[in-house]
Amino acid sequence: MRRGVMGTGAALAALAAVAAWGLAAAAPGAQPSKAPIDVKGDAAARPWKRYPGWPTRDESKFNTLAKLSSPPAPKQPRPVPALTGDPAHGEKLVADRNRGGSCLACHVMGPAGGANLPGNVGPDLSEIGNAGLTDEQLFNFIYDARVYNPDTVMPPWGSHGLFSDQEIMDMVAFLKTLKAPAVFKTPLDDPDKRPVPVEKRDNLDPMENPALWAIDKAKALWKARGPTGFACATCHSNPEDSFKTWAATMPKWEPRLDKVLGVEEFVTRHARATTGFDWLMETDENRAMSVYLHNLANGAPIAVDTSSPQAQAAIARGKELANRKLGQLNFACTDCHGKAANRWIRGQWLGEPRGQYDHFPTWRTSLQAIWDIRQRFQWCQVNIRADELPPDAKEYGDLELYLASLNQGLKESVPGIRH
Ligand code: HEC
Ligand code: HEC
Ligand code: HEC
Repeated sequence: MRRGVMGTGAALAALAAVAAWGLAAAAPGAQPSKAPIDVKGDAAARPWKRYPGWPTRDESKFNTLAKLSSPPAPKQPRPVPALTGDPAHGEKLVADRNRGGSCLACHVMGPAGGANLPGNVGPDLSEIGNAGLTDEQLFNFIYDARVYNPDTVMPPWGSHGLFSDQEIMDMVAFLKTLKAPAVFKTPLDDPDKRPVPVEKRDNLDPMENPALWAIDKAKALWKARGPTGFACATCHSNPEDSFKTWAATMPKWEPRLDKVLGVEEFVTRHARATTGFDWLMETDENRAMSVYLHNLANGAPIAVDTSSPQAQAAIARGKELANRKLGQLNFACTDCHGKAANRWIRGQWLGEPRGQYDHFPTWRTSLQAIWDIRQRFQWCQVNIRADELPPDAKEYGDLELYLASLNQGLKESVPGIRH
């Protein structure tokens, strides 16, 4: 055993166990011993069920990170339907949060945006009524803006079924009434003046961050003997010394699984192989252990291995997935965390990928819960009306390694704290 010190009896038993998995102590000069992992089965619940309290919708028609199934973009603008628009109803619709955040998520729109924390991903449309756009142009911008701009970040509201033709005509009628600069009720309502949020809380102060309790839980779990009679402590008696940098080197390409392995999936598979515990991903035990192992590496710069051809291929796949349009709202991760980064989407400030990884798992104050990185990935998908994948999906491994590679050198600071 390279790391930690054990009593002789325990050491012999552990070595016997390691030998039984075909991983006998390395001969001098051989490769360092590999951590045993259970390679069989899934590391998360199957069938995967969405977390309680998360929206339930049928989004199966649309792209996910695992399949391409969204309808194709229209090639031609549609002729304007023979319907009369109601501007008053249109004004309500542009602000309707139940339709994917609606238009104010990205546009200031004169009076409709007055006190609604509009965003500024798209242009201010307060004077669109003077712009000389035809009804056909206005209708098609809303129905599916890809006919004018294939790279648009605006969701295809009509062709993805978020608004009916009548509703789009109502919004067209409203847009035509917009002819004067926006008047904001307070400076906060103006996305160009709204102060950028700064996280000032000390995430490592137990009075501020309740997730630090997870470390006490993990320390107790470390000593608990599983069905094999082993505890983590049997083989790793001094985790503070042994794992000072380990979590900062994760995720990594794992040839035994033919996928990228993150800390949480490692915990599930290594615990199964050694202690016999079955700490599935997204259980309290798994999250606590992930917080602890990351916390032990606090201060260590993120240093994931990007050198092997397999790691490079995974990063390339991760980058492609980050650029894939997903869900009914047809967003790619990079639409919000790239093209639109450092702007407001409604009342939410969009962060850049660098700085998004070093603090996971993180405490969510608004939810009173710890989220690991895979749950954050899942939420960003559900929020854009795309089906999420199970947390151990190989696509998330690729995406995580890509994100970690963009965060190289930043120092681990876990558990983080976020709204
Ligand atoms: C995710 C952000 C986003 C949302 C949400 C959004 N838009 Fe847009 N919109 C844009 C961007 C960005 C543009 C600039 C052109 C482009 O990139 O396609 C745009 C352009 C437009 C234009 C053309 C403006 C011009 O001057 O040519 C119209 C009209 C428009 N949006 C209406 C709407 C309406 C109505 C809604 C709600 C149903 C909406 N938008 C929701 C991002 C958004
Ligand atoms: C039967 C012995 C044994 C038990 C029990 C055991 N491990 Fe390990 N562990 C190993 C071996 C062998 C390695 C690989 C060599 C090393 O890093 O020491 C390892 C490595 C690790 C690593 C570093 C992984 C890497 O890729 O280098 C972590 C983290 C870890 N173990 C955590 C745990 C946790 C958490 C538990 C309890 C669920 C646990 N271990 C239980 C034997 C054990
Ligand atoms: C519609 C916009 C939108 C899209 C698309 C989107 N996100 Fe997010 N994401 C957000 C918002 C808003 C937040 C919370 C504010 C922030 O930290 O940026 C967030 C937060 C995050 C965070 C945590 C940031 C932190 O510092 O705690 C990660 C990681 C993340 N997103 C990854 C992704 C990935 C991966 C995808 C693609 C599967 C994605 N997001 C797609 C809007 C989006």
